[in-house]
Amino acid sequence: MTDSIVLCRPDDWHLHLRDGAMLAAVTPFSAGFGRAIIMPNLVPPVVTGAQAAAYRDRIRAALPETAALVPQMTLYLTDSTDPADVTAAHEAGIIRAVKLYPAGATTNSASGVTDFDRVRPVLEAMAGAGIPLCVHGEVTDPAVDIFDREAVFIDRVLDPIRRKTPGLRVVMEHITTSEGVAYARSGGDDLGATITTHHLVINRNAILAGGIRPHYYCLPVAKRETHRLALREAATSGEARFFLGTDSAPHPDSAKLQPCGCAGCFTAPNTMSILAHVFEDEDALDRLEAFASLNGAAFYGLPPNEDRIRLTRRETPAAYPATIAAGDETVTVFDPGFPLYWHLEDA
Ligand code: DOR
Ligand code: ZN
Repeated sequence: MTDSIVLCRPDDWHLHLRDGAMLAAVTPFSAGFGRAIIMPNLVPPVVTGAQAAAYRDRIRAALPETAALVPQMTLYLTDSTDPADVTAAHEAGIIRAVKLYPAGATTNSASGVTDFDRVRPVLEAMAGAGIPLCVHGEVTDPAVDIFDREAVFIDRVLDPIRRKTPGLRVVMEHITTSEGVAYARSGGDDLGATITTHHLVINRNAILAGGIRPHYYCLPVAKRETHRLALREAATSGEARFFLGTDSAPHPDSAKLQPCGCAGCFTAPNTMSILAHVFEDEDALDRLEAFASLNGAAFYGLPPNEDRIRLTRRETPAAYPATIAAGDETVTVFDPGFPLYWHLEDA
């Protein structure tokens, strides 16, 4: 049995670091990734290049001195985003991508897009400049069942946008369905898809069977088992279009454990150990590097990280905190429900 593997340092192509005390508390747990796409859904959201640069500087200040992480900033697309601001922020090297949240789809998405025709000039400018669009792919139509919102979004919104905007590079963020996997596979090299750690591990039973478990609630919500299996097959396939975006999304327990609790799983502290476990289960440890370290960088037109990490399988499970403190608040770390024998080390 393989008990030690060495990978190019992984990247996280979808990460929430928040701001203030939460930023200070959670950022060190992502410091071992080489690069991370930083989500802009702060309150208020990151909508200008100047705001993205200021946020990048706050992230840098929150990183330990030895951190590998280089934050890759994004702008939050709104109905009134100016195409010239987006291309200027990209040309200045401030942003790597733009994030599309349909208004009301998820946490802090109130300023998101309400009318996809209004953002057409921005999308055309992005296609021209080669700036990727990271898409939260769920419709917000209350008539659509929450478990169908990803599949309906692909038909009603994503496919029409892609057809009308040739050349637009799109990342389907945190896909959760076999329909998402199939649509990602139908595209060319202008289409990628991130898969989270938690969606490889849980299905909707984890949230709802035997009691309601808010720490497994995220958006898009975990689906039935057939979809989880489709995601595992995609992630471990080695195909270039699939790559890691943890969507690690910390919330204080005081906001999760509520009659109306927030969506988000905080996986930054144990993501690589969980992924090694999943890839070992699927007999695909030799493809973990493609998923976590190579495919995303290639999609974004970047070289792989030059340094390496080692994952070693030991008899004693890897330790990680059950909770962390963030200011006066507590944040619960994602519990995969099994011991983690793969330990993350520098190579
Ligand atoms: O579960 C989620 N949490 N999904 C999202 O899309 C947003 C995120 C957050 O910001 O908490
Ligand atoms: Zn997210």
